[in-house]
Amino acid sequence: LSTTEVDLSPIAEGQIVTVQWRGKPIFISHRTPAEIKAAQDTPLSDLKDPQPDSARVKPGKDQWLVVIGICTHLGCVPLGHQGAYNGWFCPCHGSAYDTSGRIRVGPAPLNLELPPYAFTTDTKIMIG
Ligand code: FES
Repeated sequence: LSTTEVDLSPIAEGQIVTVQWRGKPIFISHRTPAEIKAAQDTPLSDLKDPQPDSARVKPGKDQWLVVIGICTHLGCVPLGHQGAYNGWFCPCHGSAYDTSGRIRVGPAPLNLELPPYAFTTDTKIMIG
C-alpha cells in the first residue's frame, strides 16, 4: 500500500504504537505534556541535527509525533520510551533520541525521519 490510514483515537496518552507504511515501521507517539515540554524546551544548540520540535509536528497537534522507526545510523529499529532522553534508544550501537525523535547521543547522524502524512480528521491521519 502506498498510503496507510491510522485512527489515532485508541492510542492513549503516553503510548507509542508502530504501524507499517511501505514496509517501514512508523512510530506514532501520543506525547504527554511533560514529553512535549521536554521537546520544546530543548535549546537548538544542544542538538546534533538542529530542528525545533514545532517543525516535527503538525500545527496544533503537539501531542502527536509521527516518525519513521529506522535508526539513521545503520537502520536498526529503536525501542520506544528508552534511553537517556526517554524517546527512543537504538540497541545496535547506542544512539538515543529524544521525545521529538531527535538524535541526542550516539553514532546516528540525523533525527528520525518524518514520513509524509496529513490529518484527514481530528483523529485520523493518512501516511503517504
Ligand atoms: Fe542505531 Fe547503529 S543502527 S545506533
